[in-house]
Amino acid sequence: MPNDGGIVVKITCLPDGRTVDIEPSETILNADLRANIPHAHACGGKAKCSTCRVAIVDGLDNCPPRNELEDAMALRLGFAPEVRLACQTRPRGGVTFRRLVLDEILLLLARALLVACIGLAMLRPAFHRAGAGNGDLAQLGA
Ligand code: FES
Repeated sequence: MPNDGGIVVKITCLPDGRTVDIEPSETILNADLRANIPHAHACGGKAKCSTCRVAIVDGLDNCPPRNELEDAMALRLGFAPEVRLACQTRPRGGVTFRRLVLDEILLLLARALLVACIGLAMLRPAFHRAGAGNGDLAQLGA
């Protein structure tokens, strides 16, 4: 399928080993779902759950920088640069990526991690008001 420049852009999804065409400005998540790849997307593509996360294993240069929503999630969860939200990433060229939330157990763990990170972020001001130092927060992983 040609993109805006008339070039056929394909993305490859691991571990499925499926390669699909991606339309101009289409997200990785949309292309996968269109191809019936069982890509987790608990929030429906709104950058709120992180279950669509992928690790780009080839073609990171073909992915535009994170948008504001994805950047906030990446900061909150400490994503490495190659970990992207499939619902927010619109490749401009070919990429190969690995889905990271593959089953219900991983889905539950991803949700628990997000809730824990939000909870720690909410506790941080209370710790500071109570006079706790950063060392106290570090012990909690905050
Ligand atoms: S589908 Fe929820 S963050 Fe992408």
